[in-house]
Amino acid sequence: MKKTDNQMLVIFGASGDLTARKLIPALFNLYIAKQLPANFVVLGASRSNLSDEAFRRKVLYDSPYLKNKIEHLKDNYLKGFSDMFFYEDLGDDYTQSYEGLAARIGELNGKYGTGSNYMFYLSTPPSLYEPIAKNLADAGLSSQEEGWKRLIVEKPFGYSLETAKNLNQGLQKYFRESQIYRIDHYLGKETVQNLLVTRFSNSIFEPLWNRNYIHHVEITNAESVGVEKRGGYYDKSGALRDMFQNHLLQIVSLVVMEPPIGDEPEEIRNEKVKALKSLRVMKDEASLFENTIRAQYVASEINGEKVKGYREEDGVDPNSTTETYAAVKFFVDNWRWRDVPFYVRTAKRMPTKVTEVIIHFKTPHHQIFKDSGVSSKDNKLIIRIQPDEGILIKFGVKVPGQGFKVERANLDFYYSSLAETYVMEAYERLLLDAMQGDATLYARADEVEAAWEFVDPILDYWKNSKDVRMYGYAAGVWGPENADELIDDLGFWRNPGQNLADDPGYCVIC
Ligand code: BG6
Repeated sequence: MKKTDNQMLVIFGASGDLTARKLIPALFNLYIAKQLPANFVVLGASRSNLSDEAFRRKVLYDSPYLKNKIEHLKDNYLKGFSDMFFYEDLGDDYTQSYEGLAARIGELNGKYGTGSNYMFYLSTPPSLYEPIAKNLADAGLSSQEEGWKRLIVEKPFGYSLETAKNLNQGLQKYFRESQIYRIDHYLGKETVQNLLVTRFSNSIFEPLWNRNYIHHVEITNAESVGVEKRGGYYDKSGALRDMFQNHLLQIVSLVVMEPPIGDEPEEIRNEKVKALKSLRVMKDEASLFENTIRAQYVASEINGEKVKGYREEDGVDPNSTTETYAAVKFFVDNWRWRDVPFYVRTAKRMPTKVTEVIIHFKTPHHQIFKDSGVSSKDNKLIIRIQPDEGILIKFGVKVPGQGFKVERANLDFYYSSLAETYVMEAYERLLLDAMQGDATLYARADEVEAAWEFVDPILDYWKNSKDVRMYGYAAGVWGPENADELIDDLGFWRNPGQNLADDPGYCVIC
């Protein structure tokens, strides 16, 4: 096990939802698993006026996100955890001097022996990232003369290529790139990391992982929920910025990348950047028209319950043209992937929540069993990111009886079947990595910019072109009617069910 230095975690935006929903439960799991260092302090900082005690009450004792976990714990065990928490009121806004904050950090550091190692977690609106970084630097809190200093920033990282570049430059004025950790919680998912292992620790997949054997690649990310209480944020973002630019392009980079030299963070990140840079950027209107589809969910009934359309959601402009469904077809311009189409879609209010990668292999070069129907039963490798995490291979078997009729059979593996079943939550894994200074699962500046480079023209086209359409789909179905048109002659998307081995067309409304 890697060593975790004594340290202090300073959370900006500590009274917000993300802190309570994700960060504190992740820290709690690390506490239970005895993964926190001997000397560890969490200092919450935000604009709410709270005492240490009130903060502990809010994010621990009264937290709905910890309720089940702490119910049966002995009081002193929980107290051991809560004693690590402190709070500092930043006053009216995040941009005023951090002298008071620096003094408090110094005091806690002296008292609890955190070795002057500080990790600053920015769980605030992105517009505050640069001002906070500047204030920290002005207060001497970015200097690594004594102890290390790290800065974790949440998504969204930028709103466009230009804003992402500005943000990178802005942060790099005050912190070195090696101190900056850009979080993408999909990289914290075991099954996303397993893409690397599936590819590079087996000798059976990699020889086939190229244009000679792969016909096309499909990635689906579907959510059954709508925009929930985040209408205000989402309406300014949309599916492409919210999911595609970050989470889905991260998955794409892991599917596309070349084998790294080893497992060092920079070796893996170098290959991911190269992969993202090789995506063919669509710049002309004709390509953008043909290869992208956007849509919005409209009111419907799911399981007898009325569901609002996107434009009726709280915080959403009634004339909004923000997409809740985005599907993009693209190519990767390199030796390995030339001419292999990639189809990637993401959407809210789909029939079920599912994320999976499907590698469709080409039919055999020479078909011996001509009347077997094999050509419509291509081999597939399905990597299920969530839920029912696992891997499924679809392959042809002979139907018993005369002749050579072929049917498709399943060869499947489920994570739940492993003896060691404890799977760390994404935030738990990512926090621990950052605490140990491992940036493998964090996005580097050039990686984020390469992703924006691809997405920017699509966003511009959707915003400005007169030809672009906004389709509608009833909440609870697999997107707009014409979504299959993107798939060319291949027919249709694989519309997965809740379980890995469900066949397309199977539809769970949950
Ligand atoms: C977030 C998006 O990054 O990811 C949300 O902002 C989305 O809109 C969420 O719901 C999905 O994450 P997961 O882990 O539930 O697939």
